Amino acid sequence: MSHAMPPALPRNLIDLFSDTMTRPSAGMRKAMAEAEVGDEQRGEDPTTRALEERVAGLLGKEAAVFLPSGTMCNQIALAVHCRSGDEIIASDNSHICAMEGAGASAVAGAQIRTVPHDRGLFSGAAVQDALRDPTWRQAPRSRLVVVEQTMNYGGGAVWSLDQIDDVARVAKAHKLALHMDGARLPNAVVASGISAQSMCAVFDSTWFDLSKGLGCPVGGVLAGSNDFINEAWRWKHRLGGALRQSGILAAAGLYALDHNWTRLAEDHENAARFATMAGGIKGIRLVYPKTDTNIVFLDVSGTGRSAQAISDAVLAQGVRIGAMGPMLLRAVTHLDVSRAGVEAAGVALSKALAD
Ligand SMILES: Cc1ncc(COP(=O)(O)O)c(C=O)c1O
Repeated sequence: MSHAMPPALPRNLIDLFSDTMTRPSAGMRKAMAEAEVGDEQRGEDPTTRALEERVAGLLGKEAAVFLPSGTMCNQIALAVHCRSGDEIIASDNSHICAMEGAGASAVAGAQIRTVPHDRGLFSGAAVQDALRDPTWRQAPRSRLVVVEQTMNYGGGAVWSLDQIDDVARVAKAHKLALHMDGARLPNAVVASGISAQSMCAVFDSTWFDLSKGLGCPVGGVLAGSNDFINEAWRWKHRLGGALRQSGILAAAGLYALDHNWTRLAEDHENAARFATMAGGIKGIRLVYPKTDTNIVFLDVSGTGRSAQAISDAVLAQGVRIGAMGPMLLRAVTHLDVSRAGVEAAGVALSKALAD
């Protein structure tokens, strides 16, 4: 993926690059404009506090803190849980391992030990195998297990409660902390019908992004015990994440909880529809035949074209699908892409490969 300045995008783009492409709706903008605000660093922003209290309740935790990004939610959680020289157990395709600029080592001073997994979901036995002997003085200290709900690079796979409990049993037995990267937790909740509180119960810390499927411009909310959030606040200041009149952003979050949560089911139906269309095109293989939520990965090696060439060809038709590897495309549905848009994307893909 290139990070040079991108070319101008077509107007009325059907943008399946990511669910981060959502734009605040008119209703959300109105709520933002009317937000009551104050100095967030001093705890004087009433709207941010309202959002934090609401999310803490939703996730069944004592407290929560609003942060500017999901990456900062993860990085602060890792920094609070770990000390320099500690080890984190996670899958190699997790966001904390594959992305975030090696923040686990750069910020928390910890290294990541990866475990065998299926779509990013791993077992308690895999955690058990990855544990270091605490009496061995040369070894890193096993400290934290990180579960990503849903698994972005696992095609939006959802951890079941049984899978979570299996991992948690081993983590707790060995006094390891447990963190959930819940960037797309709302998708997991809507897809499974399991409450956010039940999904987060065994985790010491958890968060979800406001700026993905929920459609906000900025922010994530990290939750945990009062002690954990107190420490998180130290890191928030340290990293420059403490804000001022953040109520404008928090108002978008409150609006999203009321208006954009349950509708995620539509995104999941649209992703399944797109997967059916794309999977029917000659040369394209669905990397994950089951579409759990809103993410579809396509292996294009059977087409004789590179993922980038196909991505460029659909872009010329007003559709953006990201090239995530030489032969890998990723399409992510969200509230700014309708059923008609998804079907047009399927047709554009088919046409790009027929040309
Ligand atoms: C699973 C996961 N975790 C963390 C993040 C980071 O979130 P943000 O972009 O808000 O920093 C992302 C972003 O795509 C993600 O997919």
